[in-house]
Amino acid sequence: MCGIIGYSGYRPAVPLLVEGLHRLEYRGYDSSGVAFDVLDRINVIKAEGKLSNLEAKLDSEMTLLATTGIGHTRWATHGLPVERNAHPHLSQDGAIAIVHNGIIENFQQLKDELTAKGHTFLSDTDTEVLAHLIGEERLSAPTLLDAFAAALRRAHGAYAVVLLSPEEHGVLYAARMSAPLLLGVGAGECFIGSDIPAFLPYTRDVVFLSDGEIVRVENESWEVFGLESLESRTSAKSVTRIAWDMHAAAKDGFKHFMLKEIMEQPRVIKDCLTGRLTGYGVDRRVSLPELDGLPVPSRLHIVACGTSYNAGLWGRQLIERMGGIPVDVDIASEFRYRDPILRPDEMVLVISQSGETADTLAALQLARGKGCRVIGLCNVVGSSIARESDVVLYTQAGPEISVASTKAMCSQMTLLALIALYFGQRRSPAVCDPSLLEALEALSGRLQEELPLMNERAKQLAEKFARTRGFFYLGRGCCEALAYEGALKLKEISYIHAEGYAAGEMKHGPIALVDSDFSSFALALDDDLFPKVKSNIQEILARRGRVIALVQRRGTGMAPRIEAEEVWELPASHPVAAGFLALPALQLFSYHVADYLGNDVDQPRNLAKSVTVE
Ligand code: F6R
Repeated sequence: MCGIIGYSGYRPAVPLLVEGLHRLEYRGYDSSGVAFDVLDRINVIKAEGKLSNLEAKLDSEMTLLATTGIGHTRWATHGLPVERNAHPHLSQDGAIAIVHNGIIENFQQLKDELTAKGHTFLSDTDTEVLAHLIGEERLSAPTLLDAFAAALRRAHGAYAVVLLSPEEHGVLYAARMSAPLLLGVGAGECFIGSDIPAFLPYTRDVVFLSDGEIVRVENESWEVFGLESLESRTSAKSVTRIAWDMHAAAKDGFKHFMLKEIMEQPRVIKDCLTGRLTGYGVDRRVSLPELDGLPVPSRLHIVACGTSYNAGLWGRQLIERMGGIPVDVDIASEFRYRDPILRPDEMVLVISQSGETADTLAALQLARGKGCRVIGLCNVVGSSIARESDVVLYTQAGPEISVASTKAMCSQMTLLALIALYFGQRRSPAVCDPSLLEALEALSGRLQEELPLMNERAKQLAEKFARTRGFFYLGRGCCEALAYEGALKLKEISYIHAEGYAAGEMKHGPIALVDSDFSSFALALDDDLFPKVKSNIQEILARRGRVIALVQRRGTGMAPRIEAEEVWELPASHPVAAGFLALPALQLFSYHVADYLGNDVDQPRNLAKSVTVE
């Protein structure tokens, strides 16, 4: 939800800001802009739409002179995605420029107050109100820092904001409240960004800012203050070296990040398992030392959004069956408002790739407020959810740049399988299914071999089915969650309407949609429920519906007999491992449909990667 970046150092700031914005564009791409300070004047250049529109405007030599600047790529919240609403926004006198990610909830009240004092506004945004408020506070505050803090104390809501003013040449101020913001520390330079890839080519040394903190940067020096009393907090902050490298944030010859990230899944599974399995043969066990200090919960509440929620639904089946723990799965935006009953011996597991999703974070805070312990399953190190959870398990998938989440779900599923096995072991040390551990360990190599074949098959089927009116995704058991995920992936990047259903539920209404122009993707994997799904496929065929059946070959090497317009065969596997084979099949099918239709796969319309607003 909007990417922000700031730079103070010795390099030409504008090209560096634009380069960083390219790596943040997954957070929003409705408009973009930069502000830089040359000859004691703030210059602002902005453009509607993709970053390339902004780049086309940055041809003046002046853009090479500044060594301090701020930049923004927007996902619209207040106001249309047009140029006048693009950031940066200026104070009334033009002496202060800010970029902002988040929502100032009381902006209308502040705007009315400032309008009464003679302020006029050029945009519809809450951000411009904040810029004016800082300018207004500057009239009475002793320093720019005091003015910034005074304005932020009056702003309610969520923000990550960076401020530039020629009043303090070469200096940036930045602050955060419930929105991500990091400081990158280099030699002779400092960076501010919404996410690590923004400055990854220049430094891997990061300072994580907390809510209610302001940072002042000037070249390599940085100082952190508490927002309320401006006491220095610098000595309490530490610099963390991030393990990611640029290779992880580049496309590496793939046409899209989404394809690259799908293809990375064998590595992701391997990394998730590394160090988490111990012992040999019949003594092989799951080791999750992060959870050793926690009791086995009497009930687990899994809370997440979108793809992470679908991973949670998949995990429930395993945690109940193998871990012996009753599990509820909730959508975070509902959980946070329904006053859930949480007992002290229960636990909440929040799942979030970004670790910044506003609803998931609020659900976590609610659970902790009710005295419930929270386990966080996160990809982004140092993210808000990672920091606020009692215990965090990192999924180690590496940066996920494509807006559509793929490898993150694979990593979440791997860890959920480990959690299920781990709690099973805790309840009864003798219980650990060696065949499942073996299957998980073999999975990475297996998938590596299969992915190129799956990619070819997905492309063929995508071209055949890309013009269909709509899609059902159907599955039972663990495949119900995968059906939801398949439908989510297809609709978000191909814009074809798709719905996931528990296959048995389809005849209770949805089947009315089926005709010869309507398709279904049936997950008919090799498990106990296969005969039931096969019957559901027959019900669709009887109404002239088109069907792709995703099946698995049996131990004999033969696929089961099944009637469908297209049968997509996956190799035989352990029933739990089957989900890890089906997931990339679903992802690749959506990818190729979207690519065939000429859509912007990595940056689908109306979406943003990290949803930091409700
Ligand atoms: C779908 C997608 C979203 C995210 C959701 C939660 O492809 O990316 O549905 O899964 O916004 O995000 P995280 O996992 O960052 O909390």
